[in-house]
Amino acid sequence: MHNKIMVALDVTNKAQALAMRETLGESVGWLKVGLRLFVAEGPALIADLTQTHKVFLDLKFHDIPNTVAQAIESAGALGVQMVNVHAGGGKPMLEAAAKAAKAFPDMLLIAVTVLTSDTMPKEQALKVALERAKLAKDAGLDGVVCSVHEAAQIKEVCGAEFITVTPGIRWGNQSTQDQQRVADPKMAVEHGSDYLVIGRPILQAENPAEAANEAVRMMQGASKA
Ligand code: C5P
Repeated sequence: MHNKIMVALDVTNKAQALAMRETLGESVGWLKVGLRLFVAEGPALIADLTQTHKVFLDLKFHDIPNTVAQAIESAGALGVQMVNVHAGGGKPMLEAAAKAAKAFPDMLLIAVTVLTSDTMPKEQALKVALERAKLAKDAGLDGVVCSVHEAAQIKEVCGAEFITVTPGIRWGNQSTQDQQRVADPKMAVEHGSDYLVIGRPILQAENPAEAANEAVRMMQGASKA
């Protein structure tokens, strides 16, 4: 189960990122590098992180097809195992991204459907997420980022093999912070989530590795686990 956890390394710099990696050790399989850290530290950090963990480069590319295809090629050259684009970029952009990603068979290409922080009503978020997931599937992508609340229906529509990556994970009495559509690790697995993106509940825990282990135990308790 720890291979299903992606820790969002939303920290300021390389020193903090490497310290968190050290703290987490093998308690998680993946590290997710987002805008803040990548803008600060760039490819050198990615090269370092890929030595010990799988890396999800979460930059949510959203631009004209040619520019996004070139960005996907650059991501592939970094050796990351997952990269994403924003499904809101439309079908030509998604197709260009999928075509570029073919050169990197070990890298999964994922589309963001609706940000889990988006305040649109749940029913609308589900409708938009499903439409965008279908679009991504038709364009040849491997899966989507979505909330746990949409994961099961996306699997129904796009097939069990279509990957769902779910942020917005919270448990116990943790604050939801800016996330709108949250779920706990057990529920995430029961709804068919393939990968759970967890940031602050692990980063801000007194013992991050133990927080990751706690999430794993909850996932193991899921009825589909
Ligand atoms: O701290 P928290 O667990 O809320 O972090 C969630 C992580 O997932 C953040 O890095 C955020 O950028 C990312 N993310 C998200 N919603 C999406 C896509 C990515 O929260 N739809």
